[in-house]
Order: sequence, then C-alpha cells, then structure tokens
Amino acid sequence: MKVSILKDYDEMSLAAAREVADCVAAKPRCVLGLPTGSTPLGMYHRLAEFFKEGKLSFSGVKTFNLDEYYPIARENQNSYYHFMWENFFGKIDIDAKNVHIPNGEALDPDKECADYEALIENAGGIDLQVLGSGVNGHIGFNEPGEFLYKDTHLTDLTQNTLEVNARFFKEGEKMPVKAMTMGMASILKAGKILLIANGDSKAPALRAALSGKITTAWPISLLQLHQNVVIITDERTASLL
Ligand code: F6R
Repeated sequence: MKVSILKDYDEMSLAAAREVADCVAAKPRCVLGLPTGSTPLGMYHRLAEFFKEGKLSFSGVKTFNLDEYYPIARENQNSYYHFMWENFFGKIDIDAKNVHIPNGEALDPDKECADYEALIENAGGIDLQVLGSGVNGHIGFNEPGEFLYKDTHLTDLTQNTLEVNARFFKEGEKMPVKAMTMGMASILKAGKILLIANGDSKAPALRAALSGKITTAWPISLLQLHQNVVIITDERTASLL
C-alpha cells in the first residue's frame, strides 16, 4: 500500500483529484467506482474545476457508485443519486447513460443488486475504485459483523452508521435503515483502489487498514489483500499510526 499523509483536507482532496484525473487521462474510457459522503466532496470539487479549466473530459468515462439507501426516491435530497448529480455529475461532461447508481426505488432490490453486479462485469470491471471509510471501518455499506458479503447486496445499516449519517437528514425526516451496496469482492476486483480519509474520527479505521490483520470487525482491513491500494489521508487520521 502506498500511503500519503498530507497536511489537511484541502491537500488530501487535491491529491485524490489528481489520482482520478491521471486515471482518466491515461484511459479516457475508464470505469470509475465512486463514493458519496462528506469525504469526497473536496475531490469532486477539484475534478469539476479541472473540467471547467479544460484540463479533463469525462465524456468517455463510465461510473458505478458504491451504494444507495433503500428504499429512497431519486428526488429525495438524501439519495445518493441526488448527491452525485448535485455535487459532481451535474458539473462535468459525463454522458448520463454512463452513470450507474443502484436504484433505490427498485421493486425487487435483490434483482437490482444482481443486475448491478452484472453491469459492472459487462463494463469490463472497475479501473479505479475510490473509497471513503466509515468511522467503524465500513467501506461502501459493508458493515462490521460476523461475515461480509461478496457481491452487491441489500444490507441493514448498523446503529453506528445510522447515528453518524443522521446529520444529513432533517428533523422528523425518516432515514432508510437499509442500503444496496457493492460487496467486498465487487470492490476488491477493481484494478486500483484509492482510499481517502480525513479527521480524527477515522484514525482507528486507518489503523485497522494498515494493521497487518484482516478481520470482518473492520471491513477496511480487507484492503490489505489488494495489490494496488493508494491511501491519501491527513495528519489527524494518521495520528494513531
Ligand atoms: C458512501 C460510502 C460510505 C462512506 C463512509 C464515509 O458512498 O460508501 O462508505 O464513504 O460512510 O462517509 P463520510 O465521507 O461522510 O465520512
């Protein structure tokens, strides 16, 4: 694993955006796996800037998002569909038909998950998978537990994740307690993985990612099985290393 410890969130976001930009420049028809959440916002902002400055085009790029709440309507301000178009896709020249996000409105979520896995496969797999980490070490919504799932699946969110993500939901608004998420193999099959993490709360997860031990109690620790992982983080997250 290659670990870059940078001063702060801005430096982390710029370095992460450069990693993604390098991938797109080297392979304009590449397949990107993408996260939502607070962590990648700065990276998406920088990538949209690169596009605006004419340095980068996403016209040939295909994307697959890691996850989506279930059930949730696309128009819901908290859907990951909404998040991605608001914060990234709406600001670049990506072709809408190349964007893939699990459908939070699917009537048959298990079929939606199986179809999603097949879509990734048919696209030739993911070239670069960008990941954030939960405070509890989840990646995607692969939550700590007795076992982890291999493929894209419907999952219950843990109490910890419900509490951490409650900040995005307005008072009185019902938060979905399930999500569709790529599985551990869906993630680990990517050609390259870029993990970004910032702030004190992610320090235990980063430590688990570099511990030399693999445990389902810290799904992030499974990244140690992958041959090509780049971690870009800040000094606060690295404080427990
Ligand atoms: C989101 C996702 C999650 C987040 C994680 C960190 O698509 O897959 O694993 O990356 O919950 O979220 P933030 O960045 O909000 O701390």
